[in-house]
Amino acid sequence: MYPFLFHSVFARMDPERAHGLAFAAIRGAAAAPGVRSAVRLTAAPRHPELRVRALGIDFPGPFGLAAGFDKNAVGIDGLTMLGFDFVEVGTVTARPQAGNEPTRLFRLIPDRALVNRMGFNNDGSAAVAARLARRRYGRRTPYRPNAVVGVNIGKNKSVPESGAVQDYVTATERLAGHADYLVVNVSSPNTPGLRDLQAVRHLRPLLAAVRAAADLPHSPEGRGAAPAGTAARPGAPGPPARVPLLVKIAPDLADEDVDEVADLALELGLDGIIATNTTVARDGLTTAADRVAAIGAGGLSGAPLRDRALDVLRRLHARVGGPDEHGIVLVGAGGIETAEHAWERILAGATLVQGYSGFVYEGPLWPRRIHRGLAELLAASPYATLADAVGADARKAST
Ligand SMILES: Cc1cc2nc3c(=O)[nH]c(=O)nc-3n(C[C@H](O)[C@H](O)[C@H](O)COP(=O)(O)O)c2cc1C
Repeated sequence: MYPFLFHSVFARMDPERAHGLAFAAIRGAAAAPGVRSAVRLTAAPRHPELRVRALGIDFPGPFGLAAGFDKNAVGIDGLTMLGFDFVEVGTVTARPQAGNEPTRLFRLIPDRALVNRMGFNNDGSAAVAARLARRRYGRRTPYRPNAVVGVNIGKNKSVPESGAVQDYVTATERLAGHADYLVVNVSSPNTPGLRDLQAVRHLRPLLAAVRAAADLPHSPEGRGAAPAGTAARPGAPGPPARVPLLVKIAPDLADEDVDEVADLALELGLDGIIATNTTVARDGLTTAADRVAAIGAGGLSGAPLRDRALDVLRRLHARVGGPDEHGIVLVGAGGIETAEHAWERILAGATLVQGYSGFVYEGPLWPRRIHRGLAELLAASPYATLADAVGADARKAST
């Protein structure tokens, strides 16, 4: 059904408009009790064996929606309803910004890929923080799952390099109290100079400042407390006492730079690394070269990213080890489309995995298909739990 809908309707529409319509439908379904119950019956994850503890959080499973789909934290409930185990919202910048001029999102259908140069279009940290607070503490609605919500932060385009640290700190001060985990995004190709912040001489002071800002109390009531006049919903998990901090890196880093980021993560006691963001490379595409050239600049995501994203993950795992060794959780992203791809990342060292482009090509039942496939792969494997499988390939290679 979805392939037909994709090719006959979505593929004929402007991709950003198609995204808007599809996302509105997901949000609408989550708000309509009858539809919601039907969707939950078919899409809710039913695989307790996929539960995983990471970053001090109990995840219902390892498969989340990567940043960029829900930039403004407006659709967490609908996305959770479809079966994503966690949703990373953002990228959110300190102040609102419109992003780049349209057209800024393109499909490369023969490659099952996307190119985007959205440029961090988002409502800004104050609006997103207020929305996250209302979601956690606002009036009860019949359906509001206790989803795990990561918040991904970035830099406003107008802020020069010299003001970058302060810009991230402002976003952190507003958002850390509302995040289950916080991601410093220094890897999007669509903000000039942003990826230069991955160089350790910039990254060290940036991450240290964000860490310090994230540890401050964020409201007069203190971190994790409900705003005045509201009460946390019964059973709702408050945010953890110390928000886990992760950094998201680009697949275009040279191998030695990947190692340097890994070493820095160890040095600073970072909680995790997300590998990877989109790539500026355009190698090995099936889409006609003149069409690729006509699209122009932007980050490429989806299937063509898979091999490099896996390589980067393997390299990180070789450097930092498993989560039990150094407490660093690796999150695999980039070109994951099937349960086999997700499983491959887990065996390579990822405790959690994320995807975005696969959702566009595979449709609303995608998270559920990944779950079912992962449960089957786990059952057929020698591992009793998902945690046992994390990094198993590397362990095998070293024995
Ligand atoms: C349209 C679009 C927008 C994105 N926006 C963001 C973003 O704002 N912040 C971010 O960290 N990553 C962003 N990403 C990157 C994804 O989170 C992910 O890292 C990347 O797409 C690789 O995963 P995939 O191959 O499964 O799509 C975006 C990706 C796409 C396709």
